[in-house]
Amino acid sequence: MKRGVDYFMVLKIRTYGDPVLREKCKKVEKIDDSIKKLASDMLETLKSVGGVGLTANQVGEPKRVFAVDRSRFLLDEPPLVVINPEIVEKKGKQIAEEGCLSIPGIWADVTRPLKLKIKGIDLDEKEIEIEGEGILSRVLSHEIDHLNGLFFVDRLSSIEKRLLSKKLKQITQKKDITY
Ligand code: NI
Repeated sequence: MKRGVDYFMVLKIRTYGDPVLREKCKKVEKIDDSIKKLASDMLETLKSVGGVGLTANQVGEPKRVFAVDRSRFLLDEPPLVVINPEIVEKKGKQIAEEGCLSIPGIWADVTRPLKLKIKGIDLDEKEIEIEGEGILSRVLSHEIDHLNGLFFVDRLSSIEKRLLSKKLKQITQKKDITY
């Protein structure tokens, strides 16, 4: 069997109720082969479920890494992997319907910044800055929330969250989720 960074795996996506999703993820100190493998596996996992974004804690690793498949909403853009992302600037507001691979079957209108500028490190240890507008801003904001242990449902009003509480409880109790 082939091993190493070029052997990809589809990882199990953790769902609402799993404590790793409530962790404030730790900064990555060194971009070694294990981080590169994790990032490749995350992209593979994302592709396998047709998702837009995924964070390391969503696959059980509480590290500050996220992956976004930009081809899902922008043409000819390669997948994005950001390590230790930080928000530099946010502007404006937008409201649109959002979902999450860790909360299957639930969608809700969420307020996010209209524009978001973030910085971080890529897999080549280069500092990168990304400016997102519209969907990209929404996705970046959603993924950074995950790394801080937050879900999009945490951004809803308490009434909205209460209306979803039965469904959220069902996800918490469900063992296997199929997409
Ligand atoms: Ni999510």
